[in-house]
Amino acid sequence: MSYELFERRGLPEDLQFLLQRYPRDDWRRPGALSSMGRFWLKRHAFFRELSGALSGSIEKLREESFEPRAFAEWFAPRLNYLLSDLDGHHNIEDVHYFPIFMDAEPRLRRGFDILDADHHTIHDLLETNAVAGNRFLQGLMSGGDALRFAAEAYGTEADRLVNGLMRHLEDEEDLIVPLLIDRADSGDALM
Ligand SMILES: [Fe+2]
Ligand SMILES: [Fe+2]
Repeated sequence: MSYELFERRGLPEDLQFLLQRYPRDDWRRPGALSSMGRFWLKRHAFFRELSGALSGSIEKLREESFEPRAFAEWFAPRLNYLLSDLDGHHNIEDVHYFPIFMDAEPRLRRGFDILDADHHTIHDLLETNAVAGNRFLQGLMSGGDALRFAAEAYGTEADRLVNGLMRHLEDEEDLIVPLLIDRADSGDALM
């Protein structure tokens, strides 16, 4: 069975033993997570919100409920922010956090290999999104068929990024948050 980003429906069952002990309902328990852990989850919430807003913006385009120049001013900085921040976020995870978590719980090691492969897949998606997003911005200036074509192409790329990102964020949280809670509960906090 493949656990590639676009082929799986969640974490492999053998990597869910901590998640079963600390299900999502437990994550909001006061003191369950450190301020660093809560900050990390907030970053994920922000990426979900921003990527959803960008891919949803194509709908606004279809409804023609915006003025192209104003829309471009809204769209360009948000796209750039998502692309660069997401890349930076993955770098910190790869270099700083994942090695600590893998050492702390070798039974979850395969999960971090899956997440690391996701980062490569998402990195490629960020590059294709940057190209499609820039064409979309050029299309906004020219209008007409060029705009419709560029908007469709960007919409397809953005949807793929959002779908991949949602899967990745959920599985990453399911792997890491229970580990953070487990170690914090036993007085051996990891972050
Ligand atoms: Fe990640
Ligand atoms: Fe992350």
